[in-house]
Amino acid sequence: MEEKIKNLITEVSQFKASSKQEIENFRLKFLSKKGQIAELFEDLKKMPADVKKQVGKSLNDLKQAAETKFSDLSQKLTETQTAKPDIDLTLPPVPNKVGNLHPLTLTKLRIIEIFERLGFNVADGPEIEDDWHNFSALNFPENHPAREMQDTFFIEKGTKEGGDILLRTHTSNVQIRLLQKQEPPVRAIMPGRVYRNEAISARAHCFFHQVEGLYVDRNVSFADLKQTLFHFAKEMYGKDVKLRLRPSFFPFTEPSAEIDVTCLICKGAGCVVCKHSGWVEIAGSGMVHPNVLRNCGIDPEEFTGFAFGMGIERVTQLRYQVNDLRLYSENDIRFLKQFNTEGVA
Ligand code: DAH
Repeated sequence: MEEKIKNLITEVSQFKASSKQEIENFRLKFLSKKGQIAELFEDLKKMPADVKKQVGKSLNDLKQAAETKFSDLSQKLTETQTAKPDIDLTLPPVPNKVGNLHPLTLTKLRIIEIFERLGFNVADGPEIEDDWHNFSALNFPENHPAREMQDTFFIEKGTKEGGDILLRTHTSNVQIRLLQKQEPPVRAIMPGRVYRNEAISARAHCFFHQVEGLYVDRNVSFADLKQTLFHFAKEMYGKDVKLRLRPSFFPFTEPSAEIDVTCLICKGAGCVVCKHSGWVEIAGSGMVHPNVLRNCGIDPEEFTGFAFGMGIERVTQLRYQVNDLRLYSENDIRFLKQFNTEGVA
């Protein structure tokens, strides 16, 4: 018995407990009514009187030790629970830095929003394209200068299947892809990135973004084109904006027009952006050329359509007064964080 008590005293003194549950286990094991110490007191009763006194004393020592240990453990637990952490919780929180959408994305989303309300769908097409979709189907003559090396990034020349493979030079390729798979009425806008082999400067870049627009149906007229783009310009820049159409040429439209809006940077007074003319070009446009419709298996006698191609960088420049194209792709955080995305879904 003495031996057992001795072992228990060692066990009690070495017992490690840091959680509430572990301390409770200690109490159950040693101090509860069915615990080991209570059991020993029961055994003590049956012992002969001569040893009872001595063993009883040791047993009391054990009980004492267990009780002290128990209160020590409990106290330690409350101390650690109330101990002050190393951080100062009274300091005001440092706000998380939240990223925002790129200005070109903001403009693209706004353009989509405006045209969606006019019933335009959004369509997409490949950036790596073949000569046929980027040029031939769009009525570019075989020797048109836009096909030359100085404008187009070629990936592979003269493949067996579709001639040259290239990086698309405009989003007009999506017109073809759409008309090939969908019968009129077709009413869609097609935003995307395009590439041209140009030296990088404040006014030119080797990649930029366009939104193509296409509406093909029975009786689509030039007046529809003009009103659609006029509505767009007013939605984008406010009611006071004026629109100007200048005769132009594109192989895939006839007649063709370039679309100018009043310069929003100088309000028409003349500045470097509008080259002191008071007008800024935002898009090329026109009535879809009958050859383009024919190339896509659509009868130009039955259907007509208008198309336009808008530069997202240019629209953004007028919206946010950004005067250097290079800023859009330099990822300079000081530039990017100026564009508030609040309210954009
Ligand atoms: N693809 C032309 C360009 O990149 C822009 C353009 C002009 C698109 C007239 C059109 C259009 O759809 O009708 O310069």
